[in-house]
Amino acid sequence: MTQVIREVPEMVRWSTETLGQNRSLGFIPTMGALHAGHRSLIEKARRENDRVAVSLFVNPTQYDDPTDLEAYPRTFEADMEMMQNAGVDILLFPEYRDLYPDDYRYRVTESPVSEELEGAHRNGHFDGVLTVVLKLLCIVRPTRAYFGEKDWQQYVLVRDMAAAFFLQTEIVPCPVIRESDGLAMSSRNVHLTVEERRLAPEFHRILSCGESPQILRRRLGERGFEVEYVERRDDRILGAVRVGKVRLIDNVSD
Ligand code: PAJ
Repeated sequence: MTQVIREVPEMVRWSTETLGQNRSLGFIPTMGALHAGHRSLIEKARRENDRVAVSLFVNPTQYDDPTDLEAYPRTFEADMEMMQNAGVDILLFPEYRDLYPDDYRYRVTESPVSEELEGAHRNGHFDGVLTVVLKLLCIVRPTRAYFGEKDWQQYVLVRDMAAAFFLQTEIVPCPVIRESDGLAMSSRNVHLTVEERRLAPEFHRILSCGESPQILRRRLGERGFEVEYVERRDDRILGAVRVGKVRLIDNVSD
């Protein structure tokens, strides 16, 4: 049974008790609308830890666009069912005022990685991500926390924040989970029209073809994507495009 905890002090008590019994704790922060990508993180955590906790919180501070935040799919019943089946022990499901008693007066700011790629197109995004992740790690104090390589820049920033602040949590990267046609799974994919859904896998296919970022940008543009960026970082090619109203991100090893 997955137990739902809404209050921060109750979560702190549960973690303290679990860790006090010398049990390892795996943790997966999410914004819900769970799919097979999230499930792979949960399953890895299940294999590597005695207890597994997930958090579900659509974090407003990482959105610069209120319509994007509004449109975020909310599928609590289906999420619960998936977590039950995957053997999640605890779901932390807090409210804004409980997670942000300071109303976001205090925040984590990183420079310069936060300002490029995703950060250059989404104002203040990584301040919001790093702040909420730090809060969650302070509350849950997991042995290991799991992050998808789908959001490569987010993973790198969280990993480096954990090192910078001597957090006692191991940050574990997890491979990108894709649809059978190569499209990286994402909660936003449900917003694609039939036509856009047909085009979307071309993003990954073109990114993977081994050309320079400059050529990839051109090829993606010719194929009908509106390119935000394609860049090489950490031996990876990272990209973001728009298909109609939907924004897709992906990355492949170079
Ligand atoms: P969310 O988009 O719900 O993603 C939660 C975790 O699932 C992240 O670590 C993300 O990288 C991972 N994930 C999503 N799609 C994936 C895929 N196709 N393959 C592998 N992993 C995938 O990322 C966030 O939430 C938020 O920014 C959060 C970290 C919870 C902070 O609010």
